[in-house]
Amino acid sequence: MQSAWALGMNDLDTLINTRLVAFPKRHFHSAIDLDPPDVLNLLDLADAFVLLNASSHKKLDLLKGKTLIHLFFENSTRTQASFELAALRLGADTVTMNPRTSSLAKGETLIDTAMTLKSMRPDLLVIRHPASGAAQLLSQKMQNCAVINAGDGSHQHPTQGLLDLMTIRRTFGHIDSLKVAICGDIIHSRVARSNAQFLNMMGAEVRLVGPITLLPSSGDDWGGEIYTDMREGISGCDIVMMLRLQKERMEGSLIPSAREFTRYYGLDREKLKWAAPRARVMHPGPMNRGVEIESDIADDPKISLIQDQVEMGVALRMAVLASLSSRMEERS
Ligand code: NCD
Repeated sequence: MQSAWALGMNDLDTLINTRLVAFPKRHFHSAIDLDPPDVLNLLDLADAFVLLNASSHKKLDLLKGKTLIHLFFENSTRTQASFELAALRLGADTVTMNPRTSSLAKGETLIDTAMTLKSMRPDLLVIRHPASGAAQLLSQKMQNCAVINAGDGSHQHPTQGLLDLMTIRRTFGHIDSLKVAICGDIIHSRVARSNAQFLNMMGAEVRLVGPITLLPSSGDDWGGEIYTDMREGISGCDIVMMLRLQKERMEGSLIPSAREFTRYYGLDREKLKWAAPRARVMHPGPMNRGVEIESDIADDPKISLIQDQVEMGVALRMAVLASLSSRMEERS
């Protein structure tokens, strides 16, 4: 891949504009909003944004004049910061609302919030919410505003799924035919759901690995093969994607103890030997070091793609915002 220096800013501008394709839907709620060609368009555009982000001039005006509201009802570091940076780098006017210090903390409903926000006429709204379906509900109430799901309960986290695809494609050169094991707390994970759908769509073989209490009853709806044995599950896999134990979404006791979980499902060097010889490890963060993943794996740049995932997050979200905005321009 060329560097921004080799390309020059004007060429980079042209590259971005030729790769910019209008988003196929008004909103981005879920992996199923996209077909494989849409995914490829977004990944190609995001690759161009990586070049921009590596240059000394990181700003474009593709979202100039657009207002973007970030509404995060759950804690977030990576996702919120990368959406904010993405919007700023594309020249949008942005506001971040913190539900803990707003009327939402006084018991206002999501619908009332939507009605208030609607009157402010944002063009794009990024929402993270603990309830599955929140992004969809909000988008029904908004007019002329694209709603982007930045994680809704245990349902979907589509931009995470796309940035993971992007990281995989940049590492392996392709996605199809790769064997990917998604491991740990599958049932509560919106990351697992979005990833399994996207990976399937792009021709990868998906395995869902974890204790029976943290797995769906069947892999059919998820498009993945179920494994309760970590050794069998990650055997021969090119990618081992580890997930955090989502204690905040667990009712009752689904695992005997974190120690037990780590013993059978925590990724360490010994277990990683079961995967393909040059297997790479991913994790969406935040990590529980020493629980689902050992630090020496997470921090080994020869194995871990975790920092690449964070870097790709900004570029990929720039691609999604630019593409949604391009659809609005086409229709106005
Ligand atoms: C994930 C999330 O919030 O769904 N993290 C992220 O977006 N980077 C995963 C998690 O919380 O464990």
